[in-house]
Amino acid sequence: MFANAEAYERFMGRWSHAVARPLLEFATLPEAGRILDVGCGTGSLAVAIAERYSRAAIDGIDPSSEYVAYASAKNPFSNRVSFEIGDAQQLHFEDASFDGAASLLVFNFIPDPGKALREVCRVTRPGGVISAAVWDYGAGMRMLRAFWDAAVALNAAAEKVDEKHMPLCRSGELSDLWRRSGLQDIREQSINVNMRFESFADYWEPFLLGQGPAGAYVRSLDRGGVVALRDEVRRRLTLGESLQLDLPARAWAVRGIVPRRD
Ligand SMILES: C[S@@+](CC[C@H](N)C(=O)[O-])C[C@H]1O[C@@H](n2cnc3c(N)ncnc32)[C@H](O)[C@@H]1O
Repeated sequence: MFANAEAYERFMGRWSHAVARPLLEFATLPEAGRILDVGCGTGSLAVAIAERYSRAAIDGIDPSSEYVAYASAKNPFSNRVSFEIGDAQQLHFEDASFDGAASLLVFNFIPDPGKALREVCRVTRPGGVISAAVWDYGAGMRMLRAFWDAAVALNAAAEKVDEKHMPLCRSGELSDLWRRSGLQDIREQSINVNMRFESFADYWEPFLLGQGPAGAYVRSLDRGGVVALRDEVRRRLTLGESLQLDLPARAWAVRGIVPRRD
C-alpha cells in the first residue's frame, strides 16, 4: 500500500506538504532540541520542521523502506534531519530522548494506535508536546469522497474498504486517543486546505498508481471496472477533461503534553 515513493508523492504526498505547515502553526513544538516525526513517509513534515526551526534536530521513522530511502535521498538538511526504518509501536529510542513529537496523516495506518502513542509518550520527555493530524476521510475530503461514493455506487462491496470507516477521522477521535493515553492540556483543531487539480487527468491518474487504500482498490479492479469507476467519478465531479478543479479538504489536528512524573 505504501511501496512507491514517487507514486505516493503524486497521489497524496503533494497534499501532505499543504498540511505540514498549518500543523506546525498549531503544534507548538519547541524551537530547539530533538523532535520525532512518527511515520515520516517521504519526509514532508520533518523537512517542514527543519525549515521552521533552525535549531531543531529531527528523527523521522517509518516502516516503509522505499519511503525512508526516498526521504533520505531528498533530504535538504542532512546535518540535522535523519530518516530510518521503524515502527511507532516499538521504538528503539531511550525514554525521554525527544523534546517533542509530531505525526502527519499516519495514525489511521498504525495497527495499534494506542500502543504507538504510548511509545511516543515514553520517548518524549515529560512536559514535551506530542501533536498529530489525520485526514477527515468522511465528508471532509472531497477528493476521496467523490472516489469512494462512486466506487460504492458501482460496487456495494467497496463500502467495507471506504476510508470513511477509518477509526480516527472524525472530530474528537484523535483527542480521545490522546486523552486515553494520559496526555494533558489537549487541544484539537481543524486544518482546511484546498486541493487544486489542473484537470481531471491530474486528479484521476494518481489513483492508478496503487498507493493507499484507494490505489489498492483500483488495483483490485479489472480494466472495465477501472474505466467505469473513472467515468462515474468524473460524472460526480461534473467537469470536463481540461477544467481546473478546486476540492476542499479537512484534517483534524491534536496536541497534548506528556505529564511530568512527580
Ligand atoms: C498517508 S502516509 C503519511 C506519510 C507522511 N507522514 C506524509 O504526510 O506524507 C502514512 C504513513 O504511515 C506509515 N506507517 C504505517 N504503519 C506505521 C507504523 N506502525 N509506524 C509508523 N508509521 C507507520 C506508512 O508507512 C506511511 O508512510
